[in-house]
Amino acid sequence: MTEGRFITFEGGEGAGKSTQLNRLRDALKQAGVDVVRTREPGGSPAAEEIRTMLVSRETHCWAPETELLLHCAARFEHVASVVNPALMRGAWVVCDRFHDSTVAYQGYGHGLGTDMVDRLHQMLFGAFQPDLTLILDLPVDVGLERTQVRGSSEDRYERMAIEFHERLRYGFLKIAEQNSDRCVVLDAAKDEDHVYRDVIECVNACFSLALD
Ligand SMILES: Nc1ncnc2c1ncn2[C@@H]1O[C@H](COP(=O)(O)OP(=O)(O)OP(=O)(O)O)[C@@H](O)[C@H]1O
Ligand SMILES: [Mg+2]
Repeated sequence: MTEGRFITFEGGEGAGKSTQLNRLRDALKQAGVDVVRTREPGGSPAAEEIRTMLVSRETHCWAPETELLLHCAARFEHVASVVNPALMRGAWVVCDRFHDSTVAYQGYGHGLGTDMVDRLHQMLFGAFQPDLTLILDLPVDVGLERTQVRGSSEDRYERMAIEFHERLRYGFLKIAEQNSDRCVVLDAAKDEDHVYRDVIECVNACFSLALD
C-alpha cells in the first residue's frame, strides 16, 4: 500500500462510531496496513484543547457562528499536524467525525445552514474530503440511551434538546443523499457484530480489500 486513504465515521450521539472505528482500525492493522486512528473535534494537542471547551461547557455558551469557528480552528490544526502528514506517508487515516458532523451539528442542528459551513470548509481545505464516509444511522432515543449507559463528562451535545438531535439525524441523511459518491448509510440499530459486518463489507467494496 503506498497511497493513503481517509475514512470517516459519522452519525449522532451513541450511534457506535467509536466502537466500529476501533474494530476497523484493528482489522486494517491485522491486514498489515499502516493505520492512524484519530478523532474530531480534537486529534492533535492544540485541537484537543479546543475539544475540551466544545464538549464540556454549558449547552448554549456561544453563538452558533463562534462554535462553528471553534470546530474549524480545531480541524485546521488536526488536518495540518496529523491527517495530512499521515496521508502523505501513505497511511490510512480512520477518523471519528469530520466536516460532515459540522454540517450536521452547526448547519442543521444549530440552524446556520449548510452554505456557510461548506464555504468555510472550501476556504480552509479546498476540495479535501474523505475517500469513504460511513454514516451510522439510528433513532435518536436509542442513541441517547446508549450514551447514558456509557456515561461521560463529554456530554455537552448530548444535553441538547431532542429536537436538536432529530435535526442532526435528518442532516446526516441529507448529507448522505447529496454526497452519495463517498457516503454510505448503515443501520446502526443492529447489534454491534452485525454493524461491523456491514462496515467491513463497505470498506472491502470501496477499496478492493478482503478484510474480515
Ligand atoms: N450496535 C450496538 N448495539 C448496542 N450498543 C452498542 C452498539 N454499538 C455500540 N454500542 C454501545 O453504545 C455506547 C455508545 O457507543 P459509541 O461510544 O461507540 O458511540 P459513538 O457514536 O462513538 O458515541 P458519541 O457520539 O457519543 O461519541 C457504548 O456503550 C457502546 O458499547
Ligand atoms: Mg464516540
